[in-house]
Amino acid sequence: MPELFGNQHVNGADMNRVKPEQKSGPADPSKGIFCFMDVVAKEAEHYAADHTTPLSSLLEEVARFTMGRMPFPSMLSGRIEAQFLQLLVRLTGAQKIVDIGTFTGYSALAMAEVAPDDGEIITIEHNPAHADIAKNFINRSPHGSKIRLCIGDALEIMKLLPDKKTNLVFIDADKKSYAAYYEESLRILRRGGIILADNALWYGQVLDPKDDDSRAMAGFNEMVKADARTEKLFLTIRDGIYLIRKL
Ligand SMILES: C[S@@+](CC[C@H](N)C(=O)[O-])C[C@H]1O[C@@H](n2cnc3c(N)ncnc32)[C@H](O)[C@@H]1O
Repeated sequence: MPELFGNQHVNGADMNRVKPEQKSGPADPSKGIFCFMDVVAKEAEHYAADHTTPLSSLLEEVARFTMGRMPFPSMLSGRIEAQFLQLLVRLTGAQKIVDIGTFTGYSALAMAEVAPDDGEIITIEHNPAHADIAKNFINRSPHGSKIRLCIGDALEIMKLLPDKKTNLVFIDADKKSYAAYYEESLRILRRGGIILADNALWYGQVLDPKDDDSRAMAGFNEMVKADARTEKLFLTIRDGIYLIRKL
């Protein structure tokens, strides 16, 4: 895909995925996970991270950089989720992958490391500052050539992708658009293709949604649950991952 998508800039830091009390970041950066998650007990998160294969040194560096230098480090998905993504890409042999919400490049790089040699990860980011940081890390990765970083609005860019060619979509951007990303994903995915929707628990707030993002995530989960076009598994990993397979 050529770089024809323009630059739809959004100024300032992106607040999605960040609750006010989370701005201070993780309590224990060495674990590669965040300690403010209250859906899964932090002791259990640490234990799980400790018993999960470490990531590449570049991914650990991206995590350290994000936690130390980015205004909202909680947007990083973390070691357990990155390993989960890598395992899924390995198991499915996914060759065409769409990563919605690049941030510092962590999920895109994680998937690129294990995608086949002819694999392609289209990662989409609307914040040019985030995209610049991700680009630096992507350029340093031996698997960076598999990644195409698109700067612009994720939904608009998804609309440019062809029908039924994609194997896997990782949805991890603005919550209000999850339902739209899901519909576009079903269009671009092959039969049997996978959607992973991150933050499906939205810090537990989907149980009693009180704000727009919580209502959007709760509504998204209900929509997916009722959709006969897919089969699904709601995973209580970290902040919840909705694992969805197109029938
Ligand atoms: C939660 S972070 C992504 C984290 C990343 N996937 C990871 O694993 O570390 C969400 C990112 O999506 C971007 N974003 C939010 N809304 C977007 C939109 N409409 N189009 C493109 N990017 C968007 C934000 O700027 C932010 O960098």
